[in-house]
Amino acid sequence: MSINDKILKPSPDALEKAANSIRSGKLVSFATETVYGLGADATNGEAVAGIFEAKGRPSFNPLIVHVPDLNAAQKLVYFSPFATKLAEKFWPGPISFVLPRKDDCPVSELASAGLPTLAIRVPSNEAARAFLQAAARPVAAPSANLSGKISPTTAQHVADGLGDKVAYILDGGDCAVGLESTVISVQDDRVTLLRPGGISKEELEAVVGTVEVAKADSEISSPGMLLSHYAPGCPVRLNATDKKEGEAFLAFGDGFDRISDLNLSETGDLKEAAAKLFAAFHKLDAQHSSQIAVAPIPQEGIGAAINDRLKRAAAPRN
Ligand code: TXA
Ligand code: MG
Repeated sequence: MSINDKILKPSPDALEKAANSIRSGKLVSFATETVYGLGADATNGEAVAGIFEAKGRPSFNPLIVHVPDLNAAQKLVYFSPFATKLAEKFWPGPISFVLPRKDDCPVSELASAGLPTLAIRVPSNEAARAFLQAAARPVAAPSANLSGKISPTTAQHVADGLGDKVAYILDGGDCAVGLESTVISVQDDRVTLLRPGGISKEELEAVVGTVEVAKADSEISSPGMLLSHYAPGCPVRLNATDKKEGEAFLAFGDGFDRISDLNLSETGDLKEAAAKLFAAFHKLDAQHSSQIAVAPIPQEGIGAAINDRLKRAAAPRN
């Protein structure tokens, strides 16, 4: 089958094909509002292992499990009344909850990398929800890119990176948020931010009061915060206000017209910048520049999540 035949719009027929594939242990990529996911039946350990294999991903990274609604989530993990209240407020949407696995939780241990907890999310994207309904089982899905590469925000990004490893790619259009989900852990009535993402700390705090931020070096509490997790192929220079020879310049706002190769948002809109970030890296990466210089991004609202990604992209690699 050619790669283009694998990209399906979410018609009833396509959803059935994709659901049958995932139930038979294959990998299916699907659109969500954050980034495209590389999905496997979370109750099938070999299928979940296939995710790590396909991505070439370090196996100590636990995955997010996707379900169509809160009711389905409650079958897998324990929700305190407080966690339930939060889920009702923010789901469906770009936030994942890390909660204790139920004793009879059918999700493969590999999906939680041996931890007693599981990260779980109800996405809002229509194609994602229809797919999860049709699959009728929890779907483990990290971003659908090779490990260390940029997260995909279009079906074509997935086809380019992992096209030969998936049965289908469910095309739900461009990702509206464009950054991974926020990951929180909820213990009693305390919320800890494990990964910044589509729901900002400020949005959370408006509902729950104070939100603690996990230390970046605590690998177990936040195994996904490994520094080089989001890296284009060439080095990245942050807070740049000029363009050196051989560099591509990624601008933000209207101050850089003369040197800009690409602008995350001409009007300085952080939501727009977030939605464009990974696609911008894909594009600049393809130009084979010696380095990507990135303009300063304000550290407010979703800007914190953008800077978190940028910092990882700029971290030294080996
Ligand atoms: O937006 C998203 O969240 C995308 C789409 C596809 O839904 N998925 C995604 O999954 O980004 P993944 O596997 O790349 O990210 C999982 C994140 C990591 O930061 C991981 O460390 C954290 O969730 N995580 C997962 N399970 C955890 C657990 N039990 N305890 C602590 N952190 C956990
Ligand atoms: Mg990822």
